[in-house]
Amino acid sequence: VVSKERGGEEEYFAEAKADWRRSALTAGGEAQASLWASAQRAREEIFGKRIFVRGVIEVGNFCRQNCAYCGMRRENDALRRFRLARDVIRRVIDESLPSSVTDLNFQAGEDPVALKELVLPVIEEIAKEKRLGISVCLGTVDHRLYDELRQAGARGYIIKLEIGDPEQYRLLQCPGTIERRLEAIRYLVRTGWYVSSGFIYGLPNQTLDQLIGTLDLLRSLTLRGCSVSPFIPGEGTPLFSEKRADLDQTLNAVAVLRLSSPRWVVPAVSALNLCDSSGYVRALRAGANLATINLTPSEWRGDYQLYRRKRWIMTEERVLQAIAQAGCRPSPESWIAASSSFSS
Ligand code: 5AD
Repeated sequence: VVSKERGGEEEYFAEAKADWRRSALTAGGEAQASLWASAQRAREEIFGKRIFVRGVIEVGNFCRQNCAYCGMRRENDALRRFRLARDVIRRVIDESLPSSVTDLNFQAGEDPVALKELVLPVIEEIAKEKRLGISVCLGTVDHRLYDELRQAGARGYIIKLEIGDPEQYRLLQCPGTIERRLEAIRYLVRTGWYVSSGFIYGLPNQTLDQLIGTLDLLRSLTLRGCSVSPFIPGEGTPLFSEKRADLDQTLNAVAVLRLSSPRWVVPAVSALNLCDSSGYVRALRAGANLATINLTPSEWRGDYQLYRRKRWIMTEERVLQAIAQAGCRPSPESWIAASSSFSS
């Protein structure tokens, strides 16, 4: 179904957008089933039945940003802040890495201290020792730090745009300015990183036109991957009393993402399970192709609070079960190794 030529893809995207306008708000029924089935076909044509399995270690929750939707925003004083010790991180990697994990992602609030003192030295060590695709999600930082991470052996940078509409971006206090965020994404792409971005679905007052604009913008950035997170009103944030995103609509956005850019790595995000326990499997059925196992030691997990203190933790067992339920299998190869051959 997916033409490999660029022109074909543009046509495909136009169709996906039209689909989105028609079926964005549908739950169940034939329109949704057919949207997801097309997304699955598009995924299978590029990736087969393989789902990438990534482990994530949340190394710290200090954050200098103040995003209105995020529980880790700097103005949330109710949060106990932590940074893991280096040997704790090492122990996770050496002693409790599930065998299905081919990729590791180091994630933290925007905290250059965690970046320099924890993530950088750990990556320097493990990049030589282990056969793992290494990615990081550490925010907008000095370009020199991106270069150092890359030299240490990291290949993937996850940097969400969150909202593509400049006015909403500013109102919701997203990181820095949208111009600087885009500039950082472009710098990372230019310097050889495999960049994955993403957006939040269902924020207060968000319109379908804004979402389509966001997707247009993301498609212009030469990304390797992209995610959709359902908006969850976060504890300790100004948006706490707002309405959470509708799960079906969010999953329709996952399908549109797959159809609009079939080669992208599209993660099933664990927040989907906060909407409903079927959320994760259904994302894999709607075209997602990466699953994440949470490896943060349980003592600190509750403090890594994007939404709620009580989290839904994806263990290896749950991830493998979801992959099997979606009729797929874990990829034996890291998404970084694989996506070098899937690039357009
Ligand atoms: N709802 C949905 N996604 C959120 N994130 C943070 N807070 C929220 C929220 N309330 C997502 C953002 C961020 C990632 C770490 O978590 O996409 O980049």
